[in-house]
Amino acid sequence: MKPSWTLLELIREASAYLAKKGVSSPRLDTELLMACVLGCSRVELYLRFDQPLTKEELDRFRELLRRRARREPLAYILGAKEFWSLSLRVNPSVLIPRPETETLVEVALEELKEAVRKESLPISALELGTGSGAIVIALARELGASVSWWATDISREALEVARWNARELGVQGWIRFLEGDMWEALEPGQGRFRLVISNPPYVPTALIQQLEPEIRCYEPALALDGGHDGLALIRRIIEQAPCRLVPGGMLVMEVGEAQSELLDEILGKDSRWGKWGWRQDLGGRSRALWAVTREV
Ligand SMILES: C[S@@+](CC[C@H](N)C(=O)[O-])C[C@H]1O[C@@H](n2cnc3c(N)ncnc32)[C@H](O)[C@@H]1O
Repeated sequence: MKPSWTLLELIREASAYLAKKGVSSPRLDTELLMACVLGCSRVELYLRFDQPLTKEELDRFRELLRRRARREPLAYILGAKEFWSLSLRVNPSVLIPRPETETLVEVALEELKEAVRKESLPISALELGTGSGAIVIALARELGASVSWWATDISREALEVARWNARELGVQGWIRFLEGDMWEALEPGQGRFRLVISNPPYVPTALIQQLEPEIRCYEPALALDGGHDGLALIRRIIEQAPCRLVPGGMLVMEVGEAQSELLDEILGKDSRWGKWGWRQDLGGRSRALWAVTREV
């Protein structure tokens, strides 16, 4: 890369370099890295295509490009990821929120909106394994203090990120963040929830090594590893949720692509669940489970 090169020349060269390194969206990533270096939007880059960079800008761009070429996720390099139209801070202690997880938010939102409208009792909702806080923050932004929000994670570092995001997005006063192993994070005497939501780790341990380098080398194993069949945490959630939900309360959970049939079987054998079903994600896969406990 020559210092005299224009922005457009740099972007072309850098995208070809990232493509050679196996990055799946090289041009987009290059432009986002360049926009980060120049402190402008991607669209504004187009107005500056014929300009060169200063030496400092070029050095900084080279450094970010090298990181991306090593397959570090773009979101960790930029320190942010958009979810539910919110900009969330992310770092390697949290999973990068995925667009398909927005399906969980949609299902939960429909259920909670209806509950807020119809039910007279106070309503509370819990997220297990909140990571960056993406899910609970998106919900709290939509429904505010009409619901009491709880969110847990076993990772203290992840909770720090979630608290930071909640503060930045103006919902910190509404969410109680608790540290601990699944349900054990809850305080003794904690009441039952109207809704429990979770995107737990669900990748079978042996498959982690087959994932893209962005995931297997950089995202926290704690957020991915679901044990030998991927269902270790999912089973714990399904097993205990009926004791933590009010009668008629809903569990909303993301699961792996190949896990829905087995979960239909597990739920079918547990008489505490009244009904359940699946919401397709953006790619048409059954990834969001909803299950309602029996009314007594
Ligand atoms: C797949 S990530 C989901 C993060 C976030 N909710 C999202 O959807 O982007 C799973 C999260 O569960 C947390 N976790 C893993 N094991 C846990 C456990 N035993 N108890 C509580 N949280 C756990 C991880 O630290 C991680 O933040």
